[in-house]
Amino acid sequence: MTSTDGFETLAIHAGQEPDALTGAVVPPIYQTSTFKQDGVGGLRGGYEYSRSANPTRTALEECLAALEDAPRALAFASGLAAEDALIRTVCSPGDHVLIPDDAYGGTYRLFAQVLAGWGVAHTVVPIADAAAVRAQLAARPVAMLWIETPTNPLLNIADIRALAQAGHEAGATVVVDNTFASPYLQQPLRLGADVVVHSTTKYLGGHSDVVGGALAVADEELAGRLDVIRNATGGVPGPFDAWLTLRGIKTLAARMDRHCRNAMRVAQMLAEHPAVAEVFYPGLASHPGHKTAQEQMRSFGGMVSFRMLAGTDAAVRVCGRTRLFTLGESLGGVESLIEHPARMTHASVTGSELEVPGDLIRLSVGIEDCDDLLDDLRQALGDG
Ligand SMILES: Cc1ncc(COP(=O)(O)O)c(C=O)c1O
Repeated sequence: MTSTDGFETLAIHAGQEPDALTGAVVPPIYQTSTFKQDGVGGLRGGYEYSRSANPTRTALEECLAALEDAPRALAFASGLAAEDALIRTVCSPGDHVLIPDDAYGGTYRLFAQVLAGWGVAHTVVPIADAAAVRAQLAARPVAMLWIETPTNPLLNIADIRALAQAGHEAGATVVVDNTFASPYLQQPLRLGADVVVHSTTKYLGGHSDVVGGALAVADEELAGRLDVIRNATGGVPGPFDAWLTLRGIKTLAARMDRHCRNAMRVAQMLAEHPAVAEVFYPGLASHPGHKTAQEQMRSFGGMVSFRMLAGTDAAVRVCGRTRLFTLGESLGGVESLIEHPARMTHASVTGSELEVPGDLIRLSVGIEDCDDLLDDLRQALGDG
């Protein structure tokens, strides 16, 4: 690949040269735990044991690095395994971290239930308000500023460039969870972030058939330390999971274009629906983060959330009434999903500063025929 190749070209070719031995166009699934050595220490291509490295995983990592414009990317067994390795590599007991006031519930749980006990404290900040984040950065030494944008599930937009600058002035490592946008819509390292986190389970994999995570890292020295930690703690993806993720990535751009188009139509329909109190979608001109999203994203993504005028019970009822939107956790696959964050993905933030409203519904808008999706939502909302 050359540095001038476009995103779609990199998604299909980066790290995926035809196999040197056979010419196989698709990288083989190296389903092996160990590799024959040519004499003690005589490794072929640097491979000795698949926790340390595996060629299928290498192909995925080279592709991810190209897509995030990073010198190096590392694949993990899940998004949370990637987050845990990152936080415990960058932070030490006694350190302080700033985390968003809206974020994936599992990320909050990791900080609140695991890392707090390990001695890493956190303060919750309104991530869409750069002045408030600056004030918190000035209030104490901060080792890490954790950004998620758009946020899960309220689709808040953080200004990555402004926060990266503020974080660096305060000496913090700036991390962006880029799961909702995917690298096709947003490349945080180009905006100044130090590390990008992905749940590759979502848009990168794209087909709801694999769980995985990744880090894209701007600093090679940090990437090297992360590699050591990952090998020491073992949260690696298997070769088949790496292969599935890589296969999903090939169509990321085409899928995201369609996700964005469908989601915009869904958001517009919901915004005018009498049963809906409020719609959260950064593509709507009324969204407070619309302008920032326009500046830092190619388009606005496939996630839409909305609040029901009639309250929590009505929201729960709608979640049980759809035909095409499948009731389930997760997001980013080709099929549309619906869920009730307060009782499902975000149950772990109940009672915390990240608690989400009970009347909230979250949609992962898939790439089906959009007219069918709109009909399905209208009938579930009670006018079908
Ligand atoms: C924004 C975001 N980050 C991280 C994760 C965690 O990823 P995983 O489920 O692959 O561990 C999720 C999962 O839903 C997520 O939505």
